[in-house]
Amino acid sequence: MRKRWLIGNWKMHGNLAANKALVDGIRERLPVLSESIDMVLCPALPYVSQMAGLVADTGIMLGAQNASDHLKGAYTGETSPMMLKELGCGFVIIGHSERRSYQGETDGLMGRKALAAIDSGLIPVICVGETAEERDSGRTHEVLGRQLDAAFGYIRTAHDEIIVAYEPRWAIGTGIAATPEIVQAEHAFLRARIAQRDADFAQRLTLLYGGSLKASNAESVFSMPDVDGGLIGSAALNADEFVAIYKALDNVVNKSAKDSAKKGQA
Ligand code: 13P
Repeated sequence: MRKRWLIGNWKMHGNLAANKALVDGIRERLPVLSESIDMVLCPALPYVSQMAGLVADTGIMLGAQNASDHLKGAYTGETSPMMLKELGCGFVIIGHSERRSYQGETDGLMGRKALAAIDSGLIPVICVGETAEERDSGRTHEVLGRQLDAAFGYIRTAHDEIIVAYEPRWAIGTGIAATPEIVQAEHAFLRARIAQRDADFAQRLTLLYGGSLKASNAESVFSMPDVDGGLIGSAALNADEFVAIYKALDNVVNKSAKDSAKKGQA
């Protein structure tokens, strides 16, 4: 069975006191993490060092929200993925739709960033997703396929650990999550697309859903067979909600373990 993941993208929120309160809140509600679910928190860049201290020895892992496609050099204002690695990050979100919309990031840049992240020892969390207009005009698969191919055109598959997050733009921050059926259909499409390159890797590939996930809708989405967890935005800023989402994922993992045990006995 694939490992499950819950990743919190804190976006441009937080400060020293709020970050500490949030990590403390998560730890109070969840003193021990499940062995089958990894938790990653992605704070705003200036707080990565503070967070490395806060999550030390907790089992919670650290990610960044963006990194340069270069490892070093004269790139004023950029952050090398090697620097993030040195500060304790294991992950970096690549190609988030907010960076595509507000910073004009392209498919090609996303691929180069993913490669630089891998070369620095980080696991890239590659985001793909269609706009409402693209979905309405029947172009969802064309867009997802193009975004995925652009990233995987730069990176090898077989040897690298890579996470892909399906985040439909119309579901991000809108309160309107994709239905479990839509999420499953698009995840199955993404896995099949990767299988054309490498069938074994496609089975191992972690596929997360993101977009208005909260405690009330998490379990139904996580129950879908091609969903390996979530990339959470606003609900990750609330310890109660975030831990409830983690527990929803844990319920799904436990249920499917029980089901497979029953099948084994039958
Ligand atoms: P929301 O959960 O706030 O919709 O954001 C999702 C997201 O963008 C995670 O990267």
